[in-house]
Amino acid sequence: MSVHKEVKRITTHILQEMKQRGEKIAMLTAYDYSMATIVDDAGIDVILVGDSASNVMAGHETTLPITLDQMIYHASSVVRAIKRGLVVVDLPFGSYQGNSKEALNSAIRIMKESGAHAVKMEGGLEIAESVSRILAAGIPVMGHLGLTPQSIYKFGTYTVRAKEEAEAQKLREDALKLQELGCFSIVLEKIPAKLAQEVSQSIAIPTIGIGAGQHCDGQVLVIHDMLGLNKGFRPRFLRQYASLYDVMNGAIQNYIKDVKAKDFPSEKEQY
Ligand code: KIV
Repeated sequence: MSVHKEVKRITTHILQEMKQRGEKIAMLTAYDYSMATIVDDAGIDVILVGDSASNVMAGHETTLPITLDQMIYHASSVVRAIKRGLVVVDLPFGSYQGNSKEALNSAIRIMKESGAHAVKMEGGLEIAESVSRILAAGIPVMGHLGLTPQSIYKFGTYTVRAKEEAEAQKLREDALKLQELGCFSIVLEKIPAKLAQEVSQSIAIPTIGIGAGQHCDGQVLVIHDMLGLNKGFRPRFLRQYASLYDVMNGAIQNYIKDVKAKDFPSEKEQY
C-alpha cells in the first residue's frame, strides 16, 4: 500500500478565495533548500524568494547587486523543497526596468530554470507594459508598492512611504492599475495602516503587508528577521518569534569548547 499523501498545493486562485472568505494569508521568505523545507512543513501559504537575499544571504547593504542568475540559484533550491506553498520569486533590479521584452525574458528564465510559480515586481504605472507582457505569457505576477527597496537611492531612506497625500494617491492608482492588468496580489510595504486598509478594501485581489498594519489580507516577513538570526535589526513592524542567533552562537561555542577539551568525539562517536 502506498503511504504517499496527496498535498493540496496553494495556487493564486486559492489565495483569491482566502481573501473572499476573510482568511489571512501567511507569507515568509526563504532562499535555500533547508530553510524552505522547514517553512513549507510548518504550513506557510506563500514562500517568497525575495531579493532580500542580497542583504541576508550575501551581506550587501541594498537589494540592488543581486543578479538574475543568483535569484534563479536561490529559487531553484527553494522549489526543490516545496510540496505545498506557492513559490514567488523577485525579479531583481535591472532585470525588468529597461524594456518589456527584457522583462519578459527575465521572467521566463525564472519560471523555466527554477520551476517557481510566480514572479514579483516593484512599481506601478511605470512598469505596466512589462507587467502586461509577462502576464500575457501566462506568468502570474505579484505587485509591490510603498517602500520598494530597489528604489532606495531615489527615496534616500527606509522610512514609511506615502504619508503625504500625493504619494498616497499615486499608490491608490497604482494598486488599481496592477489589479486591472491582472496581478494576482500586491505587497504593500511600510505605508500607513489606514492607507493599506483603504487599498485592501478597494481591490478584489489580496494585499500582503509588511509594516502596513493589520488590515492587509496577509502578512510577510523576512525569515532571518522573524527568527532573530540578524542581531540588532528591530524595526517597529517586526515581531521576533525566536532568537536563533543566540541559540546557534551558544551551540557553536559549546562545540568549540568540546573540541578544545578533547571531549568530542568520544569513544562512542568514533568507528
Ligand atoms: O525581498 C523581500 O524579501 C521582499 C519582502 C520584504 C516583501 O520583497
